[in-house]
Amino acid sequence: MKWKTKITQLTGIKYPVIMGAFAGVGRANFAAKFSDSGGLGIITALNFNTNGVFREELQLMKNLTNRPFGINFSIMPPETAKRVSNPKNEKYYLDFVDIALDNGVKIFTTSAYQAPNIGKKIHKAGGLWFHKCTTLKHAQSAENMGADAITLVGLEGTGFKNPLQNTTLVNITMAKRLLKIPIIAAGGIGDARGFLAALAMGADAVCFGTAIMATEECGVPQSYKKKLIKQDIFDPEYYKKIFHFQLKDKTIWSPAAGHIKEIIPLKSFIGNIISDAEKILRSWGYRGEEFSTL
Ligand SMILES: Cc1cc2nc3c(=O)[nH]c(=O)nc-3n(C[C@H](O)[C@H](O)[C@H](O)COP(=O)(O)O)c2cc1C
Repeated sequence: MKWKTKITQLTGIKYPVIMGAFAGVGRANFAAKFSDSGGLGIITALNFNTNGVFREELQLMKNLTNRPFGINFSIMPPETAKRVSNPKNEKYYLDFVDIALDNGVKIFTTSAYQAPNIGKKIHKAGGLWFHKCTTLKHAQSAENMGADAITLVGLEGTGFKNPLQNTTLVNITMAKRLLKIPIIAAGGIGDARGFLAALAMGADAVCFGTAIMATEECGVPQSYKKKLIKQDIFDPEYYKKIFHFQLKDKTIWSPAAGHIKEIIPLKSFIGNIISDAEKILRSWGYRGEEFSTL
């Protein structure tokens, strides 16, 4: 089946699936496999401390894949930036944006805090700028600043929690009414039903974070992956993870962990999502050879 959405059309990817940003493991080896599996692999710039190592990583990525990929800039909010000596704020990343553009990168994601100057730089060079946020207000604000798409992270997602955050269902269905630009659903998605549900709710693609942490290519230790696949979904701490910002315990994972049962290659993870989604569509009576949300 051919998958067609506003995001597959904008980016040239085969399936409407986008890799999350990952502090620590969001590097070329992992991202290239995501791109080669038909999605949009993302290198997280936060993981590189000098222009030189960032440039080398881009070179490695270009050697590893010829499929589309993107770069994420996770922006430290001003309060956090004040507390560190070398804050990774918008200014910090401006050289990285130039290096990526010089290396032919066309797709960029920003997250964690507003990044209008990065967005402007990307647009001036003809690139695409996707912004990731957790609330509808921030999504509207990023659209007004000119973002080309929004990733909205629901309460189920890993990472930054905002007290005003909604669930993925509320986020995406409402965003569909409020925004004009394409929407990428994030938070708690880890199987074909979640993937199809997100598209039905109005998303043009989904973003995978936790769900790909136990893939063979993810750079976390094998012991983490083993804990992840053993996550007991009836453990009371697992429920708390949704609501309690302070729960940093790495032995408890976010809701998408409940879907992961084995350590498999990224290509199988994405392949399974797509083939299971196609089976579900067939079981609903869908007979077409193309699935389009355009
Ligand atoms: C280990 C880990 C590290 C992450 N690091 C970042 C980061 O540096 N910047 C960012 O914007 N999001 C980060 N995220 C969030 C993901 O990019 C994505 O938005 C989120 O995982 C989606 O929710 P899910 O985990 O339910 O799929 C991280 C997620 C995980 C699991």
